[in-house]
Amino acid sequence: MELFWILLFSVFHRYVQTQGVYAPANAQIVHSGQTCVVKEDNISERIYTIREGDTLVLQCLVKGHPRPQVRWTKTAGSASDKFQETSIFNETLRIPNIQRVQGGRYYCKAENGVGVAAIKSIRVDVQYLDKPVLTVHQTVGDVRGNYYQEKTVFLRCTVNSNPPARFIWKRGNKPIEQSKDNGVDIYEPLYTQGETKVLKLKNLRPQDFANYTCQVSVRNVCDISDSSVTFRLTNTT
Ligand SMILES: *[C@@H]1O[C@H](CO)[C@@H](O)[C@H](O)[C@H]1NC(C)=O
Ligand SMILES: *[C@@H]1O[C@H](CO)[C@@H](O)[C@H](O)[C@H]1NC(C)=O
Ligand SMILES: *[C@@H]1O[C@H](CO)[C@@H](O)[C@H](O)[C@H]1NC(C)=O
Repeated sequence: MELFWILLFSVFHRYVQTQGVYAPANAQIVHSGQTCVVKEDNISERIYTIREGDTLVLQCLVKGHPRPQVRWTKTAGSASDKFQETSIFNETLRIPNIQRVQGGRYYCKAENGVGVAAIKSIRVDVQYLDKPVLTVHQTVGDVRGNYYQEKTVFLRCTVNSNPPARFIWKRGNKPIEQSKDNGVDIYEPLYTQGETKVLKLKNLRPQDFANYTCQVSVRNVCDISDSSVTFRLTNTT
């Protein structure tokens, strides 16, 4: 009987000891690559803003015994992002020359078979600004059957960017202010791909024959320089 208790105790004792040595996985994500800004957006979500073309380096710092296995995954993003079908089994996740489709939420899962796995996530916001594209079209309308014709020109400027771009239309070097010139109308068309602003020159006047520039800019988080496109409107256009 006594031997039984001694045996039981020694088994129990060993169990407690090994439990003490084992420690469940713990994970924390830090970055050591290029970022424009790191922001805590929410109680738990951290956002890393990075410029397209820069190098993203994320590290998953793990604790636990035995040493946890690390696995990086990403939520389904754009179809052209291959990362979602693969995983990276390395504490360091390195993406050189990051592209816009690689933005999204990245997860680090640390597992060592003790307790539940630790999962941490961060969001990567890839910022970019393409060169704007300008297209021109015009309408010619008769005015009440007179010989006089009214000509209206539409300059349409489109750009892809993240975040959404701000547009400035210029005639020559001067920004056009819609409120100070009733010959123009600046608006966003209803159905567009990407971001678009239209400059409408109503019933062309002589001063409307000039150089027009569409300048686009994104918030200055990543120091991305503005981009622009210019069109020369002549009376032979
Ligand atoms: C904060 O997080 C919740 C869920 O975690 C999300 O629905 C919400 O959009 C987040 N807020 C911002 C400002 O991102
Ligand atoms: C993990 O990443 C580091 C840094 O990129 C690299 O040096 C190392 O070889 C990688 N380890 C494995 C197992 O792939
Ligand atoms: C428009 O730009 C062209 C080329 O830069 C220049 O030669 C021309 O004088 C400009 N036109 C006007 C009306 O400013």
